[in-house]
Amino acid sequence: MKISRSTQSRISDINFDKLEFGRIFSDHMFQITYRDGAWQEPEILPYGAITFHPSMMALHYGQAIFEGMKAYYAGENRVNLFRPEDHLERLNNSARRLCMPEMELSVFIEALEELMKLDYPWVPRKIGQALYIRPVMFASEEYLAAKVSAEYKFFIITSPVAAYYSEGFNPVSLTTTDTFVRAVRGGTGEAKAAGNYGGSFLPAQEAGKKGFTQVLWLDALELKYVEEVGTMNIFFLIGDKLITPKLEGTVLPGITRRSVLSLARNWGLETEERKISIDEVFDSAESGTLREVFGAGTAAVISPVGRIHHRGKELALDTQNIGPFAMKMFEAITSLQYGKTEDTYGWIHPVDVG
Ligand code: COI
Repeated sequence: MKISRSTQSRISDINFDKLEFGRIFSDHMFQITYRDGAWQEPEILPYGAITFHPSMMALHYGQAIFEGMKAYYAGENRVNLFRPEDHLERLNNSARRLCMPEMELSVFIEALEELMKLDYPWVPRKIGQALYIRPVMFASEEYLAAKVSAEYKFFIITSPVAAYYSEGFNPVSLTTTDTFVRAVRGGTGEAKAAGNYGGSFLPAQEAGKKGFTQVLWLDALELKYVEEVGTMNIFFLIGDKLITPKLEGTVLPGITRRSVLSLARNWGLETEERKISIDEVFDSAESGTLREVFGAGTAAVISPVGRIHHRGKELALDTQNIGPFAMKMFEAITSLQYGKTEDTYGWIHPVDVG
């Protein structure tokens, strides 16, 4: 792999005690171009602006996908990548849905390992912090026909981050909407397509104006079943069961979602991936069986939910405190990620950066 090192690091300008999500970027980035039916030479170069033509197809027809993953400081000269193979599998699923080329595992892993070695000082060291990794692929052919692009760019950029929501680890508030939908079966809801996010900004903005952190999406056909939050998957602890919406084509198959289910099952908890109506959630709160609600995602990690609003009704949840189950899950996942507990799941990809 061709590596051009940055001549001057920007790291001394960074206040690692005040990290905002996705605002600053480490010194290097990975880049590869797909042309003539094949990925060309991979390259690492200093992070910086790229040039493109206004006729670049991604801008016009939205052939753009991304991933969100993290690397964790795991002691001197060691960085832990969390489930990179699973992230690549999801990237390639997204690529297939949008008629884009798949990326090879060996190229992806080498790119990540080299980036970690070069930008190791950018991996933040405090609990709750991580180096967020954003792989992104987009159509780069200059052409205005509404068709599949023949050329693509793939980048990996990294960003030291703390908590995703401004609430930190405090409970977030969610509202459903009857006006908008996120995804329909057969659409692109289960792909990590850039357009899924762009389409959710107006509803999220309206939710924000009403004082909510995010939208809790309901299914598009009946506006009845809970789907996800857009920036994370959703979990309900009802009685002794951990319930999360089933993946039926409209929900993003979260890697953290999968990790939560595995951990919970390993602890002997009964888990259910099924349709769960918003009425069932409210009924369980009324009958006193709803114990906790939390979201799970790479950026959000485990994020407790303190309020849910639906058609004029508010769910009575603990708006101040993190539930004990969400806390236990957060601690279990993060201690695996930071290498504090032994990884018996095979989720950690350690990188020796020494
Ligand atoms: C992630 O959790 O990594 C995501 O991609 C969600 C995001 C929009 C920040």
